[in-house]
Amino acid sequence: MTLQAIKYERGRLDILDQLLLPDTSRYVPIKDTEDGWQAIKKMQVRGAPAIAIVGCLSLGVELTNKTFHKLSDLEEFVVERLNYLVTARPTAVNMADAAARFIDFMETLVVEASLDPEEAKNRIIQEFESLLEEDITTNKQIGKNGAEDILKKCGNRPVRILTHCNTGSLATAGYGTALGVVRCLHEQGKLKEVFCTETRPYNQGSRLTAYELVYEKMNATLICDSMAAILMRQKDISAVVVGADRVVANGDTANKIGTYQLAVVAKYHSVPFYVACPLTSFDRSKESGAEIEIEERPFEELTFIKGVKIAAEGINCWNPAFDVTPADLITGGIITELGEALFKHMILEYILIGPGLDL
Ligand code: MRU
Repeated sequence: MTLQAIKYERGRLDILDQLLLPDTSRYVPIKDTEDGWQAIKKMQVRGAPAIAIVGCLSLGVELTNKTFHKLSDLEEFVVERLNYLVTARPTAVNMADAAARFIDFMETLVVEASLDPEEAKNRIIQEFESLLEEDITTNKQIGKNGAEDILKKCGNRPVRILTHCNTGSLATAGYGTALGVVRCLHEQGKLKEVFCTETRPYNQGSRLTAYELVYEKMNATLICDSMAAILMRQKDISAVVVGADRVVANGDTANKIGTYQLAVVAKYHSVPFYVACPLTSFDRSKESGAEIEIEERPFEELTFIKGVKIAAEGINCWNPAFDVTPADLITGGIITELGEALFKHMILEYILIGPGLDL
């Protein structure tokens, strides 16, 4: 059994409240898109794929409990709600990608003018539901591709991995992206040790990743973010593997704040730096990382921990939640479900490797 951040059955959605972890495991019901928007904004659910899945399923639950007499009313409602869900957090592209996909799907339903609105409603709910299984299948493939590439580069010897933030079962429908790679290495008996950063200020690493790694009984060690350089100098790190919130056309990648500095340090120490993410994290409408909107979060996330003040009264704060790693620092490559994309000052079309790719 892996950890389950999202519990869903038709008409009912419960999410594990990630604000309470690791001390308390409590599921909260999400009854409609307003609950979904709030849970995403407050980060009760977080991680790019999980945000999109919970957003869409919250609409699924709301639709289940509503009746539509006209197809156009259903369409208007679905489009408006999907666009609203996109506004909860700006940096991760996955919710926007899902919204575009389902708005397209809605349009194909509307073309069938004779379709009963309730039948159309069931079809769109089914599409939302398919995200859960799709995400797990994708993550397992990412894990396999990543483990294979890392082991190839390391002469098939057991490896030591450093990861950042939380990209595991709690950030996805299950298994995880960067943590899926770590999980796959562990399953193959090839993981000597995994290090996770605390991931200040919100501590997704110490609260969530550490929780997952202990739960999975991996040989795992926690470090402060500021220990990454000494770790790479002294601990024979085979690779750094992180997730992504948005990968743009030139390969620049937005991910949790602190990712950029890890990539700089990895390059200095000649440690391969990998990004692991599904193709739904790609945004080819933006040319470079400079165009990505970086979410800024409340100062209190820096100055308080569990209600206890940890900073001097009156200090100014700056709290960007993400940073952008330039493509040329992603020296290991970008691992997707289709294979590995290597970004070395090249554009996306020429460098994604894998079968069946149609960009
Ligand atoms: O602010 P968060 O916790 O939502 O940020 C999460 C990350 O940055 C993850 O690395 C990213 O979303 C990938 S999760 C598979």
